[in-house]
Amino acid sequence: MTRTILVTGGAGYIGSHTSVLLLQRGFDIVIADDLSNSSLRAVETIEVLGDRRVAFEEVDLTDQAAVAGVFDRHPIEGVIHFAGVKAVGESVQEPLRYYRTNLTSAMNLLDEMAAHEVWDLVFSSSATVYGDPEMLPIDESAPTRPTNPYGRTKLMIEDICRDVARADRRWRINLLRYFNPIGAHSSGDLGEDPRGIPNNLVPFVMQVAVGRRQQVEVFGNDWDTPDGTGVRDYIHVLDLAEGHLAALDHLETGCDELNLGTGHGASVFEVIKTTENVSGKAIPFEVVDRRAGDIACSLAEVSKANRRLDWRADRNLEVMLSDAWRWQSKHPEGYGD
Ligand SMILES: NC(=O)c1ccc[n+]([C@@H]2O[C@H](COP(=O)([O-])OP(=O)(O)OC[C@H]3O[C@@H](n4cnc5c(N)ncnc54)[C@H](O)[C@@H]3O)[C@@H](O)[C@H]2O)c1
Repeated sequence: MTRTILVTGGAGYIGSHTSVLLLQRGFDIVIADDLSNSSLRAVETIEVLGDRRVAFEEVDLTDQAAVAGVFDRHPIEGVIHFAGVKAVGESVQEPLRYYRTNLTSAMNLLDEMAAHEVWDLVFSSSATVYGDPEMLPIDESAPTRPTNPYGRTKLMIEDICRDVARADRRWRINLLRYFNPIGAHSSGDLGEDPRGIPNNLVPFVMQVAVGRRQQVEVFGNDWDTPDGTGVRDYIHVLDLAEGHLAALDHLETGCDELNLGTGHGASVFEVIKTTENVSGKAIPFEVVDRRAGDIACSLAEVSKANRRLDWRADRNLEVMLSDAWRWQSKHPEGYGD
């Protein structure tokens, strides 16, 4: 029998790419999303690329009765939980909204999973839980000291998951700590479409390349890195999506944390230069002050995920940025709503 997976936040950036792969792998999927940061057009595109229908439920996960209704209506056997609010800066301005949305959603979901005897969960955590790392690359045993409310919601949800898994041995949970997902589906029809001013470097660079914005602001060129700009472990969103399928396939009793990254870093200047190469567009930039809370370098130790999930992120920076550019140049205004 086909397994049915609930994908919360499945209309969003990472959830939509994962949903396509789930359909292609033969899973039935239910997407639960309130569309607060996404578009129904992404769900339509998932159906086209996955060549199958999706059951779509427009629900706010902070509403427990609505979450219960989703489990009542569908034969759900496993959950990938992407839904949540995710902007670091916004979380500093509006901490209560972040705690309420992310924690209430996760607790409602865990409650209804248990009530419906669904014990398999893959959760979107983040490298943000590590805060400013003492050692690079960062492995899963590194101290967790998030420096902002968003990161703290991720760590609190991880703690909740560890506690429920300790209390009841039926739970099988993989907590995936993503590094920096970028790129888009190779068709150019599914990609990242942030509302307002992008918080992350690559969507910003792409909007400059396509002429929607004037120039990129580079937050400091005096970091302790080879070219002075910040270094991050970028991972192609499709490699990340494949990591979720592997995480579903390799659930074990209890709760485990896994880094998903490449183990390789790229600087802001490398991202700008490579985007110029793949797009043929000049990317004007200006170096400005460092942003509060930023760190010089983040790099994942990925051997645990490679080994436990039998998975590896292979796509390089050039592929990531040419796929991002294909999406942005085909859809200059994103999904257009
Ligand atoms: N993109 C990154 O750089 C990154 C890095 C690490 C972790 N993550 C985590 O991965 C997950 C997915 O990230 P993304 O980049 O795809 O974000 P996204 O905003 O594109 O997707 C999140 C989806 O959740 C939905 N949503 C938000 N609140 C909801 C609610 N209360 N009820 C129902 N749906 C709701 C949004 O409409 C959106 O479609 C998030 O949990 C995020 O914190 C993202």
